[in-house]
Amino acid sequence: MLVVQNIRKHFGGLTALDGVSFEVSQGTLTAVIGPNGAGKTTLFNIVSGLLPPTAGTITFQGVDVTGWPPHRIARAGLSRTFQNIQLFPTLNALENVIAARCCRTHSNLLEALLFLPRDRLERRRSREIAEELLAWVGIAAHRFLMPRELPYGDQRRLEIARALATEPALLMLDEPTAGMSHLEAQELMGLVGRLKERGIVRPRALAALRLMTRWNVVGCSMGRSAGLAPCRILST
Ligand SMILES: Nc1ncnc2c1ncn2[C@@H]1O[C@H](COP(=O)(O)OP(=O)(O)OP(=O)(O)O)[C@@H](O)[C@H]1O
Ligand SMILES: [Mg+2]
Repeated sequence: MLVVQNIRKHFGGLTALDGVSFEVSQGTLTAVIGPNGAGKTTLFNIVSGLLPPTAGTITFQGVDVTGWPPHRIARAGLSRTFQNIQLFPTLNALENVIAARCCRTHSNLLEALLFLPRDRLERRRSREIAEELLAWVGIAAHRFLMPRELPYGDQRRLEIARALATEPALLMLDEPTAGMSHLEAQELMGLVGRLKERGIVRPRALAALRLMTRWNVVGCSMGRSAGLAPCRILST
């Protein structure tokens, strides 16, 4: 499903990633682990299109997506959350999730201004999906609150709901429990585990997680990174 080949990233003189290669196949859960500064977020940023790699290729579902802009990668079915939560601060929780639907809707500005049927239908559908996702992550009661009014753990849940709203085939979570207490982290990992239960998004979207039953190390081919221990890839 995802093939990352020989990714390098240099920031000036600093080598953040030095030849990272791995594959993620459908039906598996893969973890990238490594100490602070190992290059995990940089890798996520490159795969999700926020940063161009210095060298290397990313193939997603058989298509070379290297260098594609983030919105195109999201439309291709790859979604992510951020280590430092990135929600729209002026939209409430529900609107944050609805906004993520833009890569799955087709109506244009004119259709919206004229209240044409396709736009109305898509809006209703996006709202239904957003409401359902907020209920699923457990923050339906907070849907009209602004992100800053939500407890930290709920902001993380909102980010996951928003990532799922794009109907991803592959979901990348960048340190979803960063900054959480032990209990909050346990609850959030429970939610991640429950992803396997979900069949309501596009069927193939969560098929990737349905087989999430066991963990073992299948490979590690991360390069050196700025003299630090390299990241490692863990997979089911
Ligand atoms: N935009 C940037 N410009 C310059 N250097 C950067 C940039 N982004 C990351 N780096 C550097 O690249 C290295 C890898 O950083 P990165 O954030 O990817 O690590 P990480 O594994 O996600 O760490 P953490 O566990 O702290 O989140 C670090 O040395 C960092 O300072
Ligand atoms: Mg990071």
